[in-house]
Amino acid sequence: MDITFRRLRVADDESLIGFLTGEIWPFHSISHVDHETARQWIAERRFDSEENRSFWIVADEEITGLLRLTDLEDDTPMFDLRIRAEHRGHGIGAHAVTWLTRYLFEEFPEARRIEGTTRYDNQPMQRVFLQCGFAKEAHYRDAWPTQDGAYLDAVGYAILRRDWQAGSVTPVRWNSE
Ligand SMILES: CC(C)(COP(=O)(O)OP(=O)(O)OC[C@H]1O[C@@H](n2cnc3c(N)ncnc32)[C@H](O)[C@@H]1OP(=O)(O)O)[C@@H](O)C(=O)NCCC(=O)NCCS
Repeated sequence: MDITFRRLRVADDESLIGFLTGEIWPFHSISHVDHETARQWIAERRFDSEENRSFWIVADEEITGLLRLTDLEDDTPMFDLRIRAEHRGHGIGAHAVTWLTRYLFEEFPEARRIEGTTRYDNQPMQRVFLQCGFAKEAHYRDAWPTQDGAYLDAVGYAILRRDWQAGSVTPVRWNSE
């Protein structure tokens, strides 16, 4: 599979709305994105601004996913990743996280670490974090709001620039008390 990453442009707004509203996102706080919400997110410049950049994930010339990089003026950028349902489970997620890690560390010299969070029961995303050299750093209880008003646990993973350079994973010092 040939996978490339194409930066979103203003001309992509209608495709972006179609992408966000055309799928169910079971592990996002808003699992059904409606048109109004998608337009509001675009108006708020969540996908392209000083702080945010987004890329289509293109596999064999088909748009299969969306990568949104956030907090780009911080020394710890973060990201959101969405693969269309029919393309999940084929290694695109791991490919995308490997790509974004290199992109962020090369493009932003101030970035010292990259963080990602997900819901505690999102097994595929947690597998992707580990495969790509991220370490689990946090488990937040009752931290992830769901659309039906419940709160589920969230987990946080990160990769350090120095680990990325060395190809290592520094263990977390859990016994600090
Ligand atoms: C999470 C997501 C980005 C992962 O990308 P992907 O392309 O589907 O994942 P990959 O194919 O790279 O594989 C991920 C790993 O999860 C495993 N996996 C897949 N489905 C699984 C499941 N239901 N339970 C446990 N593990 C699962 C795969 O076997 C693979 O692990 P392995 O290589 O060790 O066998 C993608 O599934 C997605 O977009 N999901 C919906 C949106 C989402 O949850 N985004 C993350 C929000 S923070």
